Amino acid sequence: MSESVFSRRRFLTASAAIAAGTLVGAPGIVRAAAPHILPPLPYADSALEPVISAKTIGFHYGKHHKAYVDNLNKMVAGTDMADMSLEKVILATAGNADKAGVFNNAAQVWNHTFYWAGMKASGGGKPTGLLRDRIEASFAGGYDAFRKELASAAMGQFGSGWAWLVADAGKLKVVKTGNADNPMTKGMKPLLTIDVWEHAYYLDYQNRRADYVNAVIDKLINWDFAAENLANA
Ligand SMILES: [Fe+2]
Repeated sequence: MSESVFSRRRFLTASAAIAAGTLVGAPGIVRAAAPHILPPLPYADSALEPVISAKTIGFHYGKHHKAYVDNLNKMVAGTDMADMSLEKVILATAGNADKAGVFNNAAQVWNHTFYWAGMKASGGGKPTGLLRDRIEASFAGGYDAFRKELASAAMGQFGSGWAWLVADAGKLKVVKTGNADNPMTKGMKPLLTIDVWEHAYYLDYQNRRADYVNAVIDKLINWDFAAENLANA
């Protein structure tokens, strides 16, 4: 896949659609409800090398992410959730043990699309502009404190889950969630996430989660994506 196919313009459209509770599946096609689609990656599957290999993306995006989409579509077909947007399915099933299967697959679809969009080749490092200012205002110690907190959350999440930068009641925070959970179910606005399920890094890093986390933070974070999410918060 060439960069031109997944241009910044397309990427922005996709992120805006995610923010609006919909998903962009193909040029000009906005899906608000089932059948949910596997959104295109915003870059080639080798674009994040050497931090994340094409082989990892092949399995992670092509197998895991796709499976969540396929499972979700099977689960909501013919139910009162068939016409709901992805975000509505997530919010409608959060905390409901009887709907845990639907929630897990729906949230994993959303989380992964958000994760892919939150990375780019030659990303990482310190943000600029409003995001820099908000991080400085929200974390005593500024970027260095934020970076340490994000890395600690990602490394400290026991088992599978996610580390997030969120906007919450006017402040930016770092939170972690287990399995498929997403901070939006607690009223927070996700700005960025790091997948710390083993399938995200095991082929490249085996058990060295810290190496994966540090490399993502320093080399891949897409601050433009986080800034757009902050602007919409
Ligand atoms: Fe994942």
